[in-house]
Amino acid sequence: MRHVFITGANRGIGLALTRHLLEQGEHVIATARRPEQARSLHELQARFPNQLVILPLDVTDEEQIQVVARSLEAITSHIDWLINNAGVLYEGESIRTLPASNLLHSFQVNAIGPMMVVKHLLPMLERSSSPLICQMTSMMGSITLAAGDRHYSYRGSKAALNMLSRVLSFELKPLGIPVILMHPGWVRTDMGGPAAPLSPEESAAGIVRVLRHVTLEDSGRFLTWEGRELPW
Ligand SMILES: NC(=O)c1ccc[n+]([C@@H]2O[C@H](COP(=O)([O-])OP(=O)(O)OC[C@H]3O[C@@H](n4cnc5c(N)ncnc54)[C@H](OP(=O)(O)O)[C@@H]3O)[C@@H](O)[C@H]2O)c1
Repeated sequence: MRHVFITGANRGIGLALTRHLLEQGEHVIATARRPEQARSLHELQARFPNQLVILPLDVTDEEQIQVVARSLEAITSHIDWLINNAGVLYEGESIRTLPASNLLHSFQVNAIGPMMVVKHLLPMLERSSSPLICQMTSMMGSITLAAGDRHYSYRGSKAALNMLSRVLSFELKPLGIPVILMHPGWVRTDMGGPAAPLSPEESAAGIVRVLRHVTLEDSGRFLTWEGRELPW
């Protein structure tokens, strides 16, 4: 049984990952900004009472990350997989009207938050015999693949996450902790919208399949939910 820590687990891909991992017998620490409103997570807890712990976590709040990291000591001896899934996307941006607050908030949630979660959970990951960090990025963070749309905040913050995580992969490799940049596909969630071709369940199953085969040699790679490599 693996111990898996997931951010933004109350809806979308994070919720589907939580459900899929529970069904596969893993132990999940699912975090959400407002756990009291996370109805789907509470339904899962009723189904898997011994496998699911729900904790409050806003990834932009470093103090809260520290509180969560401390409270993990009473829950588990270690974390095997850290899945930094929480993310935000602002629609309809143009340089003529772009609010600095969109950029700042996107960088806080999509790039800085995941790094702070790694920072405070690292001791827990170091105690695992098969640790792994999965940073949920997007192919929209690829500079090579950038298209003509105007998602400045999202694309910029995911490109930053890619670079930060690539650097992280070099620091953590000697500790035996692989870091993977994961593009989950275009998925029918609140963020992906109803036209997306993939269900959250299909994406989650693919992501877990890929993660199960990751070795230290894969650290720092930018992969899709099907295991294909993406250009930076
Ligand atoms: N859907 C796609 O097609 C697609 C494609 C490429 C990459 N991705 C990436 O996959 C990840 C999940 O996306 P999704 O489609 O599942 O998005 P989603 O349905 O919009 O869900 C986003 C999740 O992130 C949480 N979140 C937002 N800000 C947070 C914060 N400050 N602290 C903690 N949690 C926060 C949300 O919590 P609240 O409910 O509290 O807001 C929610 O649980 C994201 O990183 C996204 O960029 C998605």
